[in-house]
Amino acid sequence: MSRTKIVAGNWKMNKTLNEATALVNEVLKNTNEFDEVQKIFFTPFPFLNDISKQISGKKNFSVGAQNCSEQVSGAFTGEVSAVMLKSTGCNYVLVGHSERREYFKETKEQLTSKIKLALDNDLKPVFCFGEKLAERKNKLHFEIVAQQLKEVLSSFSAVQLKNIILAYEPVWAIGTGETASPAQAQEMHRFVRDTIAELFGTETALNISILYGGSCNAQNAQELFACPDVDGGLIGGASLKADDFCKIIYSF
Ligand code: 13P
Repeated sequence: MSRTKIVAGNWKMNKTLNEATALVNEVLKNTNEFDEVQKIFFTPFPFLNDISKQISGKKNFSVGAQNCSEQVSGAFTGEVSAVMLKSTGCNYVLVGHSERREYFKETKEQLTSKIKLALDNDLKPVFCFGEKLAERKNKLHFEIVAQQLKEVLSSFSAVQLKNIILAYEPVWAIGTGETASPAQAQEMHRFVRDTIAELFGTETALNISILYGGSCNAQNAQELFACPDVDGGLIGGASLKADDFCKIIYSF
């Protein structure tokens, strides 16, 4: 089993370029590039190239985008394609974040196309999914998560899954300060791994990294990362402060 441990910061729509480079400087100063944790900064589009240069040559540091177009190229004003992302030096892209699903009404067809274009352009997609509060209250969380996984990932092969990372982000925990308990996180991550095994076989399931996201912070990261099926975190608010982000990196 060779699962990569990952701590990724999703900055969302925060920071100016100067603030962003200062944050990355602080993180670089206070972490060891040779530890085994893969650290990814999911920055806004305009910072991708600068931050890529800033971390260039640093082992186990990468840059990712928060979205990409489902179109290859052409007359789509304001959109950013996968090939453009790759040309900035970035290596990862978030696909299907709940904020994109909710506010931009992204569909399973769009998400499938985004993942395909990311893979075609040598970008690793981090595919996000998770249930809403009402769905959990109605005990539909496993059903919803299985559906979100199957409706998109069934278009891909076990070989392609080697380059895909999963992120379970229960919507009720995002930006709310309410975190899934370690038991809730483990239970769902295990379920996700079992679903991947069902779709693609045990080897693929054992090797895919599954991140937890949703009010993960310097206080709770350690107990979440101690869960056997939690391979790291996708961090929102707490990734905006170097101190907190570094503490999370050292929470394995
Ligand atoms: P918070 O950590 O702010 O809850 O955000 C989680 C998230 O959406 C990461 O993608």
